[in-house]
Amino acid sequence: MMRKVVRSFDEWRDAARALIAQGVAPEYVEWAASEDDGDLFSATGTSAGTSAGAQPAVQPAHDGGAAPAKELRLPRELMEMLASAACFSAADRWAFLYKVIWRWQLGERDVISAADADGARLYAMVKAVRREEHDMHAYVRFRERKEEDGAPRFVAWFEPTHEVLPQVARHFARRMGNATWMIATPGAAVLWDGEHLHDAPALMRSAADIEDVGEALWLTYYRSIFNPARLNADLLRSHIPSRFWKNLPEGAIVPAMISSAANGERRTGQTGAVGRRGGATTIAVTAERAQPRREQPATLDQCRRCELWRNATQAVPGVGPDKARIMLVGEQPGDQEDLQGLPFVGPAGAVLDRALAEAGVERDQVYLTNAVKHFKWELRGKRRLHKTPAQREVAACHVWLEEELARVRPEVVVALGATALKSVLRDGSATMSSVMDAPFVHEGRWVVAVYHPSFVLRARDEDSRQQAYEVIVAGLRHALTLGPVRSG
Ligand code: URA
Repeated sequence: MMRKVVRSFDEWRDAARALIAQGVAPEYVEWAASEDDGDLFSATGTSAGTSAGAQPAVQPAHDGGAAPAKELRLPRELMEMLASAACFSAADRWAFLYKVIWRWQLGERDVISAADADGARLYAMVKAVRREEHDMHAYVRFRERKEEDGAPRFVAWFEPTHEVLPQVARHFARRMGNATWMIATPGAAVLWDGEHLHDAPALMRSAADIEDVGEALWLTYYRSIFNPARLNADLLRSHIPSRFWKNLPEGAIVPAMISSAANGERRTGQTGAVGRRGGATTIAVTAERAQPRREQPATLDQCRRCELWRNATQAVPGVGPDKARIMLVGEQPGDQEDLQGLPFVGPAGAVLDRALAEAGVERDQVYLTNAVKHFKWELRGKRRLHKTPAQREVAACHVWLEEELARVRPEVVVALGATALKSVLRDGSATMSSVMDAPFVHEGRWVVAVYHPSFVLRARDEDSRQQAYEVIVAGLRHALTLGPVRSG
């Protein structure tokens, strides 16, 4: 009997491939999730089983058939089912999955049929895991913490029946932009530092503990984001004089982290802890070279002129022909725009599309952009709700609108709502009521001010909705009739 200890689907897959190649039948393999697993009273425990490095004897195939003893080839769909079923909490899951691929390799295609006992079990496992993922997407509730301690801003506790935390964490990493968070479960926790996911110790034992874990959470966070390859101990010391360290939560761990960085982690840590993170390959560089001094962001996606980038998935640039005659300026990307990286693709975009069509304006003939290029939101339950950008954020982002105006040189700018108007006029006190009646000239081009499409969606009754919508359509029709502003 062979014993295989696997802690993840990848480890199981590699072990299973090797076993299939050697023709080892399922009944000759004992699968365990850790060294401690297994029946203490059985004669097939670690000592009685194979010692490390021992080659298993090639065993006869089950049912007395020929051992497959060949390279394992599985269709992608089956591989995906196995990966899902591997998240099902059952002591015998690795053994069961091995039995499935063993039978598949013998040519028993029934093994993935719902009419087969193993096939039915496989489907049931996959279904239960997918349901659990779905439930976790729907029912994880982040609680916002005080921001001043620098630890994750949102914390959630969840007790999943199956081991779906990694894929659920990837889902939330895509949805929550750069906002930092932790999801803790009874067996594990995951931390998102705004750019990367990290495994973290499970600090909580229940949702009630969230209030009490502040300091431990902060230390976990601090350890996870500490990159020994970028350590500049002098700089760190000069920023945090050591007399203050004793009162700082990280004071207790920073000296140890500095000394392990100095003792080699500076080189190896990067390829180890940091190298495990997703993204670009890591190369050891000095702190100075890793963070070149930049006066201003050169491109929109590097923009750090205000704080909105932190919680957004990405910056959303304008789209449209480079020499469009009409430019439409909205307020800021919404939830869908933030995820897709395109302006006006969500519900407000649907209203705008309808209005453009009714006014006879082709969407792909106009340049569509926003006054603010990052999504500003607040979490309500699991929904990211739009938050109106502050004037300082509109002003900070104005440089990008200027760049678009200079490049596209539209003859007409349609300001959709008050935020757009303030940005186009570079006047934080501009109001819609003073300019909505008629187009006017500003800085050598026509400006048409109309309601924002989401104003239509929020209108309290059908009449107000229709009125607001007609103002937008009329403004767009008007824009179509305007040409270059004549001088003199
Ligand atoms: N609202 C906006 O102002 N812009 C978008 O891109 C989407 C919704």
